[in-house]
Amino acid sequence: MAADDAGTESHGQLADRFNAYFTGALTMNLVYIGDQLGLYGALKKLGKATSADLAESCLLGERWVREWLYQQASAKLLETDAEAKLFWMTEAQQDVLANEDGHDGSPHFLGGVAQQVVSISPALPKIMEAFRTGMGLKYDDYGPGLAVGVRRELNVWVRHSMLATFCKIPGLKDSLEVGVMVADIGCGCGEGLLTLAQAFPKSTFHGYDTSAHALAEAKQRLQEMGVTNAVFINPDEAPLPNEGRYDFMYTVDAVHDMAHPDQVLRGIRGCLREGARYLICDVNSRDSPAENIKEMPGVAAAAYGISTHVCLSSGLSEEGGMGLGTMGLTEPVVRRLAFDAGFGKFQKLHDFGRPDMNYFLLEA
Ligand SMILES: C[S@@+](CC[C@H](N)C(=O)[O-])C[C@H]1O[C@@H](n2cnc3c(N)ncnc32)[C@H](O)[C@@H]1O
Repeated sequence: MAADDAGTESHGQLADRFNAYFTGALTMNLVYIGDQLGLYGALKKLGKATSADLAESCLLGERWVREWLYQQASAKLLETDAEAKLFWMTEAQQDVLANEDGHDGSPHFLGGVAQQVVSISPALPKIMEAFRTGMGLKYDDYGPGLAVGVRRELNVWVRHSMLATFCKIPGLKDSLEVGVMVADIGCGCGEGLLTLAQAFPKSTFHGYDTSAHALAEAKQRLQEMGVTNAVFINPDEAPLPNEGRYDFMYTVDAVHDMAHPDQVLRGIRGCLREGARYLICDVNSRDSPAENIKEMPGVAAAAYGISTHVCLSSGLSEEGGMGLGTMGLTEPVVRRLAFDAGFGKFQKLHDFGRPDMNYFLLEA
């Protein structure tokens, strides 16, 4: 439905759409339950199963598992037979709900999205308070679940596409192979940085993030993976150095979350070597909210939704915060931030990586 049609919608049509949102909210909670209790993984292993089979394999109460199966089959996230006795998953359902990592890890996995939705719900009273005071919440105010949910969502791209995407930047792969200094600003749980560090052992990688929860995850992953050419740093404790140290810097899905992206970009410019590059990967949005709402209402409803819960909140979590919001890092905004920070060259990269992301390459 185009935004212009909204005025002509009947009560019935509006109620149908409202009910779809109601069902969607409940379904996200039940996907989270299935994900955390291992129900999807177990059903995939069992193939076709009754509620008793699945309950037994997960050591759960059969009646609860049966009701969950009825809901998931109604929501078409699982399949069932004519009597609703046997349940199973198609290949696509396995990819989206069960195949997170390992040899069958899928680029379509979405379990991390449900974890994010559920982990932000307990913060609703604080978010309502933010509407009153104007001051938003920091990432850590949501607890460790949000950092893990973000990691699980973005990891899908990291595992399946990130290296190939970055290696499209002319000359980058060669210099990483020779050995250079790289920094990821807003690295979250660090999976992207660790992936690069493993692929390019002669280079050195520094991951900066202000979230203690994310950094704790990142440091644990670093140990598990046995990576020795990466470190993680909280810039609130050890700010970016005021000297040309790095040969390549990048930020994935985090500039729009920053309260003071202008200051951060100035800091990045200050610690890049002359001629070095900074890649910004951020949410693809049109140049104005009106265009977002009109041209991609489905994407915009989700993006402004996550923004009000998390991204805008993070961007307003410090005094004088810019509060860009999830869809606020438009090309004109990046151009202005880059120019003000003293970058000499600015380029928007087209047909570069994920279509839901914009890629901007800045040169010091
Ligand atoms: C959506 S997450 C993206 C994380 C990571 N880039 C990834 O791909 O998984 C945004 C991150 O930006 C971090 N962040 C927000 N403001 C920051 C700042 N001023 N400096 C560094 N990190 C910041 C948050 O703590 C959060 O981990």
